[in-house]
Amino acid sequence: MQALIAELHAARAHTRRVADDLGGAREFGPRLPIVNPPRWELGHVGWFQEFWCLRRGGGGESILPNADALYNSATVAHDERWRLPLPSFPSTLEYRDEVLRRVIERVRAGGEPDLAYFARLATRHEDMHAEAFHYTRQTLGYPAPQLPAPGGFPGNRVSGDAELPGGRFELGARPGPQFAFDNEKWSHPVILAPFRMSRTAVTNAEYLGFVEAGGYRRREYWSDEGWAWKDRTEPLYWRGSTLRRFDRRVPIPPDEPIVHVSWYEAEAYCRFAGRRLPTEAEWEYAASFDPVSRMKRRYPWGDDAWTTALANLEGGALASVHGYPRGDSAFGLRQMIGNVWEWTASTFLPYPGFVRDPYQEYSEPWFGTHKVLRGGSFATPSRVVHAAFRNFYTPDRADIFAGFRTCAR
Ligand SMILES: [Fe+2]
Repeated sequence: MQALIAELHAARAHTRRVADDLGGAREFGPRLPIVNPPRWELGHVGWFQEFWCLRRGGGGESILPNADALYNSATVAHDERWRLPLPSFPSTLEYRDEVLRRVIERVRAGGEPDLAYFARLATRHEDMHAEAFHYTRQTLGYPAPQLPAPGGFPGNRVSGDAELPGGRFELGARPGPQFAFDNEKWSHPVILAPFRMSRTAVTNAEYLGFVEAGGYRRREYWSDEGWAWKDRTEPLYWRGSTLRRFDRRVPIPPDEPIVHVSWYEAEAYCRFAGRRLPTEAEWEYAASFDPVSRMKRRYPWGDDAWTTALANLEGGALASVHGYPRGDSAFGLRQMIGNVWEWTASTFLPYPGFVRDPYQEYSEPWFGTHKVLRGGSFATPSRVVHAAFRNFYTPDRADIFAGFRTCAR
C-alpha cells in the first residue's frame, strides 16, 4: 500500500514539474492535431483518475459537474477541446488534486481489491500525459521544464553490432505482480533467426551523413508513403548545423541520438545505410534475454528497479548514446531503456489471445495503423517503461521523442 501511495505522489509531482506552469498565455495554445490545450489536458488527467479509481468506469457523480462531457477523451473530439466551458486553470488544478487526495484516502482505507490495478493504470496514464506535455513544450517552442539534467554517467565509446543468436523467446509480459497493459499480454513463444543489432541508437553524426548525402532528396531511399509524407529536407527542428531544443537553438550534438524522426525517416535512413529496423520481437529479446541463465529480465540490466545511473529517464535532457554503461543488456547493447524511444519495423498488433482490459480505448482502436516503439525516452517516467512495454504511434509522427537503432541486413 505504501508503495502504491508513493507511486501516486511521484506521478503527480512529475506532472506538476512538466505542466503546472503552462497556465496564462500558454493554457490553450494553437489548435494542432498533435497537441492538447494544457488546461484541458491537466483536467483530463484528474478526470481519468477519478473515472477509474473513484467511479470505476463512470458510475456515480464526479466531483466536478459535467466532467464526463468535458474530459472523456473517447467522446470529446480533439478540436472540441479548445472550445469547451472548462474550469479556470487554478480550478482545474484544484479538481485534479482533490481527486488524488480522495484516491489516496481510499487506498489507505483498503477493502477495494481492484483499486490497486486502477490506481496503477491512472499513474501510467498520467505519466504518458506528462511525456506528452514535455513534447508539447518542444513542439510549441516553450522553455524546457525544470527537471534534473542527466546525471553524467559517461561510458566507454561503443560502436558496431552485437551478435544475437536468436532461438526461442517468450515475447510479452509474464503474468505476475507487475502492472501490464492488455497489449503486452501475455508472453508467448516466438522463434528468432540469428541477427546483428547496433549497440547504440543512431546518432546525430550518423544521421547527418544521410542528410549530407542528399538523403531527403533521393527517391530511392523512400517508400511511396514516406515520399508522399516528406515535406522537409532535414529533420524536424534542424537548421543547418543547429537544432531547436525547446526555446533555444544549439549546435547539433554529434554523440546524442537522432530524435524527432518519423518512422518513414527511420526507414529511409536504413535503406541509405544498407540496414533495417529491428522487429519488436528482436528488440525485446535483445533488451531482456540473458543468454547465460536463459531467463528473461524485466529490464536490460536485470530485474532491479531503475535508478538514475541505469538509464536516462524522467529527466530534462538527452545524453550521449555512450552513457549509462551500467544499464547495458546482457548482449552488451546500450540504452535499450531511456534516452530515445526506438521505432521498430513492427506494426502494432494484438498478441495471440488478446483480451481488452477495462480501459478499452487504450490499445484496440490503434491496432494495424500504428508502428511499435520501444524503450522509453529521457522524458518517460520510470514507472511506465520496461523491456516488454509497447508504445505506438502513427508512422508520420516526428514530434515525439523518437529515434531508432538498426540491424544488419
Ligand atoms: Fe488520456
